[in-house]
Amino acid sequence: MLKNKINKELDDIKKNNLYRSFKNFYNDKYVDNLENNEKISKNFSSNDYLGLSNNREILNVIKDALKYGSGSTGSRLTSGNINHEELEKTISKFKDTESSLVYSSGYATNLGVISALCAKKDLILSDSLNHASIIDGCKLSKAEKIIYPHRDVEFIKKILEDEKFISQFENVFIITDGVFSMDGDIAPIDKLFKLCNDFNCTLIVDDAHGTGVLGKKGKGTLKHFKIKANENVIQIGTLSKANGLLGGYVASYSEMIDYLINKSRSFIYSTSLPPYVITGAIKSFELIENKDYVSKLQKNVKIANKIFSGLSYGINTYNFEDNYNKHETPIYPLIFGNETMKMSKYLDNLGYQCIGIRYPTVARGSERIRVSITSCHKKEDFINLKEEIDNYVKTHI
Ligand SMILES: Cc1ncc(COP(=O)(O)O)c(C=O)c1O
Repeated sequence: MLKNKINKELDDIKKNNLYRSFKNFYNDKYVDNLENNEKISKNFSSNDYLGLSNNREILNVIKDALKYGSGSTGSRLTSGNINHEELEKTISKFKDTESSLVYSSGYATNLGVISALCAKKDLILSDSLNHASIIDGCKLSKAEKIIYPHRDVEFIKKILEDEKFISQFENVFIITDGVFSMDGDIAPIDKLFKLCNDFNCTLIVDDAHGTGVLGKKGKGTLKHFKIKANENVIQIGTLSKANGLLGGYVASYSEMIDYLINKSRSFIYSTSLPPYVITGAIKSFELIENKDYVSKLQKNVKIANKIFSGLSYGINTYNFEDNYNKHETPIYPLIFGNETMKMSKYLDNLGYQCIGIRYPTVARGSERIRVSITSCHKKEDFINLKEEIDNYVKTHI
């Protein structure tokens, strides 16, 4: 019976200490992101890198946009095309591409773009630490897949140089996170871009954690490497992280977007985002570009680098090639292995939001507290967290 099977699997998950459950996570309780807030912040688990989920200017335009109604009432190709094209123009300008297309989430974007583009006679080269939504997009596509070791450009190059092997495929795609969501390291986009140009492949970059974070005015990982996207590049993004809202998008050249409008199933067969979300997203790009949130975040990363590099534990196994001074993103994987969930609980009892990340999200043995910082944190917040982690280590490990 199905119920028996489900109960057995749930028991197994619990026995293996991998059971997932909800936790209340109220913004007003844990996120102190309204501008000029002086409160101590103990939230180190949010992707709200610029504090825009509680930004007054965004909240005001959203209130105003409620005049369009609470829902979009249909797919973009039926009744759901309201103010969405205005957001797409904003995104294209922000990403410096000819065109763009908004989906209902970043997850739906990866699923819809990869499955529409990567066909039976194609090859996908995908980083071993890519986000689950990329992995699922690849699974849905009929292309052949090779998972390459994390950030290993030489490995990819060898494959591309094997003419006999490569000649079997019509199109080759390299797919990578721009900033890796659980590790905070940056993909070697400059090298991957060069490979794509040299070997006529397409680079798909999921910049969910790079947009609003890296590059001048938060324009993302390509800008970080001073690369202007050409027709060998497709950029994917989400509105749910630095933009503080909900939704996803793809940005590329016009025919590519036209193709996706006609072929991408998670775009075609899903109700479009509510118009007030779209209005909020347009405002969020304006703020990212014109206010100093991004530079505040980038300054905070430098401050946090110094403080967290003094941690007595967790940092030793920090798996970046680069050292802490060079770290450039707001994601800090503090790898505590078996101690992760106990440490997370200890911090939770002190009012901290420091979510533990386990298998299958990360590999067994690399369980971690994924500390993420925002432009709204203050130096004292990092010092306080570091002290509490050090206290735990002294008393428990
Ligand atoms: C790298 C990456 N891509 C895609 C997604 C999915 O985005 P969304 O939450 O908008 O569905 C996430 C976030 O969960 C992510 O970290």
